[in-house]
Amino acid sequence: MLAKNPRAPLGIWFIALSFTTIASGLAPTRDIELPLQRAMLPDTATDRDAAMSAPSMTLYHNPLSPFVRKVMVLLHETGQQDRVALQNSVLTPVNPDLTLIDDNPLSKIPALRLADGNVIHDSRVILDYLDQQHVGNPLIPREGSARWRRLTLASLADGIMDAAVLIRYEVALRAPEKHWDEWLDGQRDKIRRALALLEKDAIAELTCHFDVAAISVACALGYLDLRHPDLDWRTANPQLAEWYFEVSQRPSMIATMPKI
Ligand code: BEZ
Repeated sequence: MLAKNPRAPLGIWFIALSFTTIASGLAPTRDIELPLQRAMLPDTATDRDAAMSAPSMTLYHNPLSPFVRKVMVLLHETGQQDRVALQNSVLTPVNPDLTLIDDNPLSKIPALRLADGNVIHDSRVILDYLDQQHVGNPLIPREGSARWRRLTLASLADGIMDAAVLIRYEVALRAPEKHWDEWLDGQRDKIRRALALLEKDAIAELTCHFDVAAISVACALGYLDLRHPDLDWRTANPQLAEWYFEVSQRPSMIATMPKI
């Protein structure tokens, strides 16, 4: 208030200066180091640098999971990738990751162990958490109609990923004679309908911000390319294809590109 108003009455300046003087007298000076602080400080500058940049969180991670990729893309976009160590997690619905189930009984990734030891999941919760840990522009609008619209687009993308991963499990893990073809068609129809809506209604919205909605759609499309090239989604959705080509050049997308 005072800094913004150089014409503040002199009396106010006097009160403010007196208060600052008293407060600085009470506060420890920089030269005084509490014993606990000293004990916690690493010995050398190099040790200190390492301690400062050491990851404080751990992400249960599999580079092929589109849900994990969302988290990784957000970490890159917000400059937080060095804060998270990656713990490889290999699992399927019939083969849970035994190291993960204590932290997430659903045995699903991503799950994120925080600096205080608490574990949070799923990807939506993790994105929300990480988006509140940086000082740049939020990638999830904090309030207003934009919040609900962007989260709804992100949810649509998550639905594409859900259907695509379920198809993958059915086709890759079950014997061919046991495949449930109507169910598989139902999942493919969900994907086609969701893509058609994005193509018809959401291209401009996706183009204007690379935020939670755009990150989620980009990761969903990346997974379709990885596991379901047979769906040939580009032919029916040329604008989405063009948009995806553009965002695929982003360093965050290149760094997290899944490779088999
Ligand atoms: C996959 O290999 O397609 C996959 C891996 C982890 C989670 C979901 C899918």
